[in-house]
Amino acid sequence: MLHFEKLTSTNDYAKHILANNTPNDGTVILADFQESGKGQQGNKWESNEGENLLFSIILFPKNLLATDQFFLNMAISIGILNGLEKVLRNNKLAIKWPNDILVEDKKIAGVLIENSIEGSSIKSTIAGIGLNVNQQKFEVNFNSISIKNNTEQHSDLQDILEILLKAIEQQYILLQKRDMLKLKNAYLAKMHRNDGEYYWYEANNIKFEAKILDITSSGKLILEDKSRQRSEYIFKQVRFI
Ligand code: BTN
Repeated sequence: MLHFEKLTSTNDYAKHILANNTPNDGTVILADFQESGKGQQGNKWESNEGENLLFSIILFPKNLLATDQFFLNMAISIGILNGLEKVLRNNKLAIKWPNDILVEDKKIAGVLIENSIEGSSIKSTIAGIGLNVNQQKFEVNFNSISIKNNTEQHSDLQDILEILLKAIEQQYILLQKRDMLKLKNAYLAKMHRNDGEYYWYEANNIKFEAKILDITSSGKLILEDKSRQRSEYIFKQVRFI
């Protein structure tokens, strides 16, 4: 594990390592503070210094086709969720597609996965994880929650990290053993809004009600609207409202 007081972004540092060396599978880069933490879709990831977990794991998935890349997202998000189940007081945890971890419908962790692809396969992966641990107020994103908000107790960051890394490793082993069905079933079982009910979505500036049917191996969300029309969406194409 590489631990820094300050980095621009642990994902960017992992990229720098990968460009110069061949690190071990599972190398962790941890920072107390990020000067330009990255979120999904070009967003920023804001975190108070020393209060939360900000880390990236470098992974080398075996024989994983780029078209199957979502199994990685599944392994990481189920791992985080399983780890959090051990530390949170109430277990209303869910994964909001593609990989936000929610507690009571508020976001406790975000994941930014950056894959490097060679030919048709994934050569290496940087799984960047931001988990709100001891921060209590979130000015930028009011829909956030932390472990402390949930448990009303201060947590030791190193303890939480260990629990999380163990839980993520278990899921990564399933991926390496190609137990894709188990990963997918676990993901679907914990997926936010995946209860057969209709919810509101917005795509192409149109609001509609739909239910979740499935996700594809590449990570598309399959929705069915009330007229039984099915559509597949990549992350940027559809908004949960
Ligand atoms: C999101 O939900 O938008 C994803 C957030 C991912 C944040 C983590 S913090 C550690 C790692 N380094 C980064 O720059 N981003 C990820």
